Amino acid sequence: MFDPLETLKKYISFPSVSTDPAYGEGMQGARDFLTQLFESMGLEVEVVKTPLHPIILAKRVGKPEWPHVVVYGHYDVQPADPFELWDSDPFEPTVLGHHLYARGSADNKGPFMVHVSAVAQLLNENPDIPLRITFMVEGEEEMGSPSFAGFLDAYKDTALKADMILLSDTSSPSSDQIAITTGLRGLVGLEVFLKGPKMDLHSGVHGGAVYNPVQALVELCASLHDEAGRVNIPGFYDAVVDPEDWEREEVNKVPTTEAEYKAFLGVKDFYTMKGFSPFEAVRFAPTLDFNGISGGYQGEGSKTIIPAQASIKITMRLVPDQDPQTIAELLKKTLQERCPKGVEISFGKPEGGAAYRVLPPFKSGKEENSVLAKAFKGADRAIEDVFGKKPLYLAEGGSIPIIAKIKDVTGLDCLMLGLSTVESNWHAPNENFDLEMMDKAIQVSKQTLKACCS
Ligand code: BES
Ligand code: MN
Repeated sequence: MFDPLETLKKYISFPSVSTDPAYGEGMQGARDFLTQLFESMGLEVEVVKTPLHPIILAKRVGKPEWPHVVVYGHYDVQPADPFELWDSDPFEPTVLGHHLYARGSADNKGPFMVHVSAVAQLLNENPDIPLRITFMVEGEEEMGSPSFAGFLDAYKDTALKADMILLSDTSSPSSDQIAITTGLRGLVGLEVFLKGPKMDLHSGVHGGAVYNPVQALVELCASLHDEAGRVNIPGFYDAVVDPEDWEREEVNKVPTTEAEYKAFLGVKDFYTMKGFSPFEAVRFAPTLDFNGISGGYQGEGSKTIIPAQASIKITMRLVPDQDPQTIAELLKKTLQERCPKGVEISFGKPEGGAAYRVLPPFKSGKEENSVLAKAFKGADRAIEDVFGKKPLYLAEGGSIPIIAKIKDVTGLDCLMLGLSTVESNWHAPNENFDLEMMDKAIQVSKQTLKACCS
């Protein structure tokens, strides 16, 4: 049997940044590491080639009548920069108190390793446990999973012929108030390019004669929200479904106060859509964000030019039932209509995934005996046993775009256990994973998997 912490440290030491080709070796290292680990557990491993980063499947096969749980994870991580803001080397796992610091420790290597450890322990304790398990670990989550749709088509009738998906890639309110995640926002991104004159111009010689593309860009951007903080794109809210009462009630049980949240964020005030508390807004309101803007002179000092071009990266978080492609088209149409003559607008290819909701079986009011219902019940009980408090059932603001796609193609639903907190610093310097939570969560995962085959 392996040691969960030592194994996690080794896994984390591979710098598996999917978006940057310079980290190819780190990606390969993480894959080889997982392959060996799964093989050491007696699982059948298949490394599935894709156009970009391979997907790893590791199966504990068994009788066809046994329940089949697919455990999802991603071995890729976000880039670690800015490196200078880390207190330790991001790819040198560092334990301080009961936290493990490293890029990918919380998103998603630590939480995924919880389930791997649980399965290893279960198989060790009961080699005959009547449960089929498939680990499905992708390497492109942090870049929007471009290869996943193809994989899904090819494997929907084999590896994904299952009863449910189990994953931990979301958060909890605190390390002793665990959440079972019941929703994810969708995400669609679009890059926008504006072209003005054919070259940078002297702003004295030509200023006054042409529309400055940076001016056009900021005017267009400013038009995309109204005074109430709503996204100002005609049709943007048409498909939005309001959250159910129980979803809002669960959010109201989150033990954080607005003052604490403000202090955590380091802002003097919130900016939320009318009718939503900040805790509701991040879960139930769709948004449009500017992630990065460029154009004109960025160097030291000044430069008197009218730049030839400007561009911006926009992403929108979506809620049920907004369709990513439709929303991207609405944004394009709106920008095209509002773009001044004299400036040319063009767009990148929109990429995205829809929002996801799962109704916890006991909230549906019907008595259910599905594997998913058993898993939810098992997890609920185990969380109370091990953490001392019942879980909250919370929708989340973050996105795992493939989850809605999997549901669409296979009909499978997910049990998502939140095993990080806002203090985990996902995508930020000093990302960390709570090791006390890890130990407890392994127990929860074991009890949940046992409940699936009870
Ligand atoms: N694990 C996160 C998503 C997440 C974080 C959900 C915290 C809930 C709470 C995931 O790896 C992630 O960061 N996803 C990206 C998707 C994108 C890069 C396509 C996101 O949400 O920005
Ligand atoms: Mn993640």
